[in-house]
Amino acid sequence: MQEIILTKPDDWHLHLRDGAILNDVVNFSARQFNRAIIMPNLSPPVTSIEMATSYRDRIVQAKDPALSFTPLLTLYLTDNTSVQTIKDAAEHPDIYACKLYPSGATTNSDLGVSNIEKIYPTLEAMQEFNLPLLIHGEVTSPEVDVFDREARFIEKTLGPMTEKFPALKIVFEHITTQQGTEFVLETNTNIAATITPQHLLLNRNALFTGGIRPHHYCLPVLKRESHRTALVKAATSGNAKFFLGTDSAPHAQSKKENACGCAGIFSAHAAIELYTEIFEQAGALDKLEGFAAFFGADFYGLPRNTQKIKLRKETWKVPESYPFENESVIPFRAGEPIHWKLLAA
Ligand code: NCD
Ligand code: ZN
Repeated sequence: MQEIILTKPDDWHLHLRDGAILNDVVNFSARQFNRAIIMPNLSPPVTSIEMATSYRDRIVQAKDPALSFTPLLTLYLTDNTSVQTIKDAAEHPDIYACKLYPSGATTNSDLGVSNIEKIYPTLEAMQEFNLPLLIHGEVTSPEVDVFDREARFIEKTLGPMTEKFPALKIVFEHITTQQGTEFVLETNTNIAATITPQHLLLNRNALFTGGIRPHHYCLPVLKRESHRTALVKAATSGNAKFFLGTDSAPHAQSKKENACGCAGIFSAHAAIELYTEIFEQAGALDKLEGFAAFFGADFYGLPRNTQKIKLRKETWKVPESYPFENESVIPFRAGEPIHWKLLAA
């Protein structure tokens, strides 16, 4: 029986939601990961230090006390985020980054940034105080083809931004394209990227297999096969600029199976197992630990974890659904097999 032991990983991009839903989802992540960067796109969004610290307390309260799991909070940038807020966030022990959502790009992004130039003073302050910027990298103009929005963002916004702020630490979140991998490789060492399990496992055909598949809809949307292959190559290359970020983004079943379904894939129930499958298929299991447990911590300047996890090559079937407030959430691979299993610590 094949088993692997890894340093306990971290999730560098996670949506935990709030209220009753937080209780339903947090332990899926806490079981597998030692730390996670928590996305601030709540309603209302987490725009102040006070909101971030009280959200942190709710997460810690919701998690199983037997599990060691540290939420690393982020602030949601708006057109009006002040330089003082950035300075305070950079000094705060619970806040690790700020998130840039171009307004209208994704779930709860309406209060995001309307024009990047408006926040140049904020970015200047982030560069000065060494607070990382996490980016949802898509243009939002309705005339741009939805499959081209990431590539266009690189040309229009990210390229100029990295030239203007060369010392700003940037995580280009959930990259989905070959252009994304190339940009990260070609740009300075202050830029890195997270990659999700769904963008490594699926191409855009998965949105339409035998009919429309709302549970495969996320943003940025899945791309064609050549992009998926480029992402697998980057993730499994051992290059420290690419690391794990699930973008696990649960929505109630009724919000996904809807005439206007929400974007987001729930993968927290099996995240490390899914990544293990990907690395095994690529013949790169020896590169998994760096991607999952070392490179993100190094980029954020945090100590690497010391605990270990064990995975066994064993097939198990993902449940059809999990409880989610008064409803259900449909997990990634619902009702289907996964070929690696995380053993209890
Ligand atoms: C995320 C969500 O639902 O909060 N959805 C998604 O499709 N990834 C938002 C995001 O990260 O874009
Ligand atoms: Zn996300």
